[in-house]
Amino acid sequence: MHHWLALPALQEVTHKLTSKRHIWLVTGVAGFIGSNLLEVLLSCGQKVVGLDNFATGHRHNLAEVESRIGPEFWRNFTFIEGDIRDRAICERAVTGVDIVLHQAALGSVPRSLADPLTSHDVNITGYLNLLDAARRAHVHRFIYAASSSTYGDEAALPKQEDRIGNPLSPYAVTKLVNEHYAAVYARCYGFRATGLRYFNVFGPRQDPNGAYAAVIPKWTAAMIANDDVVINGDGATSRDFCYVANAVQANLRAALAGDDAQGEVYNVAVGDRTTLSELFAALRDALAARQIHYEREPVFRDFRAGDVRHSQADIAKAGRLLGFKPTHDIRQGIVEAMEWYALNAPVQA
Ligand SMILES: NC(=O)c1ccc[n+]([C@@H]2O[C@H](COP(=O)([O-])OP(=O)(O)OC[C@H]3O[C@@H](n4cnc5c(N)ncnc54)[C@H](O)[C@@H]3O)[C@@H](O)[C@H]2O)c1
Repeated sequence: MHHWLALPALQEVTHKLTSKRHIWLVTGVAGFIGSNLLEVLLSCGQKVVGLDNFATGHRHNLAEVESRIGPEFWRNFTFIEGDIRDRAICERAVTGVDIVLHQAALGSVPRSLADPLTSHDVNITGYLNLLDAARRAHVHRFIYAASSSTYGDEAALPKQEDRIGNPLSPYAVTKLVNEHYAAVYARCYGFRATGLRYFNVFGPRQDPNGAYAAVIPKWTAAMIANDDVVINGDGATSRDFCYVANAVQANLRAALAGDDAQGEVYNVAVGDRTTLSELFAALRDALAARQIHYEREPVFRDFRAGDVRHSQADIAKAGRLLGFKPTHDIRQGIVEAMEWYALNAPVQA
């Protein structure tokens, strides 16, 4: 049994699951957030269909989930290797499904600047293929990964759902368009898709490799390998880093919430703000506690194009309408994440 399931805020929602078995579709199931959703759902005895094309996800993430939950629960998983840009695959994947948790997308602002067309095809056309297949199949709940990048150049902090600025990258456009399609599908067809605007999610199985790795796995891997840690900008850029257990909780709560809570967008984060310089120190200290000592100073480079300067969520709406209560702040999340990276990063590097 996954140890998060003993946490009261997660127990509140998982006890509803043990009384009824649903059939879930998790897209992007071989990725970071998708594989964490898979692990918790299967641990709760749910039936899960997973879809992934391994664009950025990995078979070893699925293998890790299998070994952590054991054969009895793994039996309830069906995997489809396929691409959400393929309409027939989307139709097949939603067949017989009650609840969709749509995570498949190409993440990363710099990736979308380097190749905006592919990000568009996957994140907009692929999303629409799945949304429409789900509508036609009368799926009961459609919960999708939205993004804090949608706040763009809106300067006010903390970010509230109804005040967004102009998108600053092609990636941000794709996530904004997802929200527009969700709103239009609610208006035109009465099909209510619910968006979770994740803020910098981190935790076990987030990929430390490749040019588009996120900051926490990238820096952690660099510290473990004793390589340079590069800070883009002056170190004062800030984010509301959200441990993946919180993102999993938000998905389960959104999926099980009543009709009135559907068709909305919700911030999913902790409600705190941590600068990149503070993050550097927190990761270094957490590794030191595991006898991995990083003695170097960070290397400062230019600000990165397309990045939002400061980010912090107001999570009151998710609290009010979904009952969302984060179980981990950044420090508690980093301790758990470091445990995983200390065991896994050298093997996968
Ligand atoms: N991690 C974050 O901080 C964060 C923040 C905001 C939003 N999001 C969103 O959350 C979702 C999950 O992100 P993640 O961090 O787990 O990333 P990830 O890259 O680990 O997972 C994405 C998964 O989608 C799969 N995928 C990509 N293109 C596909 C396609 N065409 N067909 C089928 N599968 C495809 C990938 O192979 C991968 O397994 C994404 O929609 C992302 O945009 C993530």
